[in-house]
Parts: sequence; C-alpha cells; structure tokens
Amino acid sequence: MRAVDLIAKKRDGGALSSDEIFWLIDAYTAGVVADYQMAAWAMAVVLRGMDVRETTDLTLAMARSGDMLDLHDIAPITVDKHSTGGVGDKTTLVLAPLAAAVGLRVAKMSGRGLGFSGGTVDKLESIPGFRTTLSTAEFRTAVERHGLVVAGQTADLAPADKKLYALRDVTATVESIPLIAASVMSKKLAAGADCIVLDVKYGQGAFMRTLDDARQLAQSMVAIGQRAGRRVSAVLSSMEQPLGLGIGNALEVREAIATLRGNGPPDLVELCRVLGAQLVQLAGLAADEAGARALLQRALDEGKAWERFCAMVAFQGGDLHAIEGADALLPTAPVVVPLRAPQRGYVAAIDGQSLGLAVNELGGGRERKEDTIDPAVGLVLAAKVGDLVEPDAPLLAIHAANAADAARIAPRLLAAYRLSTTPTAAPPLIEEIVA
Ligand code: URA
Repeated sequence: MRAVDLIAKKRDGGALSSDEIFWLIDAYTAGVVADYQMAAWAMAVVLRGMDVRETTDLTLAMARSGDMLDLHDIAPITVDKHSTGGVGDKTTLVLAPLAAAVGLRVAKMSGRGLGFSGGTVDKLESIPGFRTTLSTAEFRTAVERHGLVVAGQTADLAPADKKLYALRDVTATVESIPLIAASVMSKKLAAGADCIVLDVKYGQGAFMRTLDDARQLAQSMVAIGQRAGRRVSAVLSSMEQPLGLGIGNALEVREAIATLRGNGPPDLVELCRVLGAQLVQLAGLAADEAGARALLQRALDEGKAWERFCAMVAFQGGDLHAIEGADALLPTAPVVVPLRAPQRGYVAAIDGQSLGLAVNELGGGRERKEDTIDPAVGLVLAAKVGDLVEPDAPLLAIHAANAADAARIAPRLLAAYRLSTTPTAAPPLIEEIVA
C-alpha cells in the first residue's frame, strides 16, 4: 500500500478499509509513513470525516500499537472513567475511591493538565510523596490488593496515538470528532477496563463548547467502545460554570477530601453519584439507577470511600499525614486575597475558561508539556451562578505565590463574573446519558 493513495482516497470522501487503516497506523508508528503524509491524511479526515467502522478501526489500530493491558487474571470485571476535561474537575479523586468502596475494581490511567483545564496526575502529585508513575506490575498489584489505582499512563500505552496527537496539535487537526473519539478510546481500550463511563463536558469551561458537539463525541466514543466489546456509557455534563469551588491542584485535592468525608459541594457530589451509578449498573452490581445510587450513598456515608482513598494514597507512597489531619502538609499558597463584588447582583455567568487560564498564570497549570507547576496556587469560588451577592462580598479567593500575581489577574477574574439585577437559575448539571 502507499500512503499517498490513502490520503487521496480520504481527500475524495472515500472510506478506508480496515486493512488500509491498520496498515497506515502500523506504518506511521514504524516511521515508514512520514509526518507530513500523516498530517495530510489527518486534515483530510477533519474535512471529510470517518464513519463509525473506520473510527473503530483507527481506535483499535492505535490501541494495539503498544501494550494492551489484560486484568482478567486479577478481577473478572474492572472499571474505568474518563473526563474530556473541564475547569475545577476533580471528579476522579472522589469517584474512583467511591466506586472501589462499593466493590468495583478501578483501574484508571490519567493525564496531566494542558491548556486551561487541569489533570488528575498533577492534582494527585500535590500530595507529598504520591507516585503516579507506576510499573505495570505495581498497577496490577494496586488493583488486586486495594481495588483501586489512579496512575499516569504507562510509557507504551497507545504509542501511535501519542505520535499522532503531537502531530495534530501542531497541524490544526485536533478539531475532528472521529479523531478525538479514536484518540481517547484507544487509550481506554489499551488500559484494559471492561466497563467505562465517559464524562463528556460541554460549555464555556470545557474542550467541547457546544452541547451538540459533546453529544456527537459521546455517541462516537460509546459506539467505538461497544463495537470493541466493552460496556460503555457517557454522561453529558455542563461546564457552563466551574465544577465545585476549588480550581488548582492542592485546592482541588482538599475539596475532594472534604467530599469523601461528607462535606462536598452539591454539584460535585451529584456528578460523582451519576457517574458512579453508571459504573455500578454497567458492572451489574445494581439493576437500576436508584439501587446504584443507594449503594454509593451508603459507601460515602459510612466513610468507606474515604478509607479507599487513604489506602490508595498509602500504596502509592503519599504522606497520609498530609490528607488525614488538618491538611497542613498539603501545599498552601502564601497569599490569599479576596476578589470582591463591585455591586449588588445575581451571579448570571462565570467564564470557566478565563478562570482556568488565570490559574495557569498564577503558576498552577502549564502551557507547554515541559513547564513546571506550583501545586499551591489557584482559586476558591465563594459565589456560583444563581447566588445573590452584596457589594463588597467575596466572589472568590485568589491563592497566589505573591501579592503582585494576585493583583495582576484580579481584573480578568472580575471580568469572568457577570452580575445581573434579575435572578438567574444555575445551569443544569447533567444534560443526558448516552448509552
Ligand atoms: N484528548 C485526547 O486524548 N485526544 C484528543 O484528540 C483530544 C483530547
């Protein structure tokens, strides 16, 4: 086969056969197909699309380009979760131990933050000593002993996706639903879980801006997973405002700990219940949503989810004193400054992307992969959409490395809040479930 023929076929709107897709990915991974040819093919896909069979073939070809984890000797059913990313999204830190607490085996590989949204690996690494780089043997042992692991991706997980994603990033070919779906699902399939719940976020503070795009992405990923023999469902959840109150690595760990101890913000708690209920039902532990929710609530109320979190932190080398006590050992910013409301009003909108970018500027995120981050900095919201604020009441607290950093971003944070004289309802958190 010749790459040029496959590029031309896609350019002209044709569908590549399974053999052609597997050949293209294998040849690209081996360095036989050049970056410029792959970039041309990716652009043809952006413009012409791919059908569900082609997208599934691409996913499987990329998944099989490296290690395919098989955990069936450890557990008959393992579960995993993926979020398409959003500002303040610390759901994995709560959902993974919660799912483990009801008896599910959670085998999760997570990523680092990039752009305006954070990443679970960075958040966990704000716990002193916590190791997210585990060998495959350690990953398997954690699932076997504690029913729970959250780690970074192993080096040989879907290498074809790693190479292609880096290329798409610099050739304006990220924005394609089939390419995104195949990229995400190749890593999920390679990581081995039988049941996968996808949290597909839409809105201002999410990768997918519109509900329509999020729905299409969710449908595509669910179809791929099911064709590949996994049990998959997706939840479409709103990022029209940040999730919970904390944005920033250690601040989000604090909020996750509070949630696991029964004091979480209502939106975060509800999202964890909805996603957890999907996993419980996919794994066959409950027949319906009500039964699944009851199981999860009991695990939270009885402190079992919190116990699982502590067991995970201990196994992965984290300092338990940092999370058990008054969290004094978690990184803390030296400067905490309130941002105050200029006038009385109802919070009508909060631009999550602006807040996420502001946290990056404080040092809490990265623009480039090699940037280092400050785990202590971030924001804690004091008012969310629908709240009535009085003049001078705090809208949020800025946690910064110094007063100058806080002062520099304050005007942009203020611009991210829209106040209205008339009451505004909070946007719905969950739009629909795609199964
Ligand atoms: N995240 C991924 O893993 N892949 C994409 O293509 C886009 C976002």
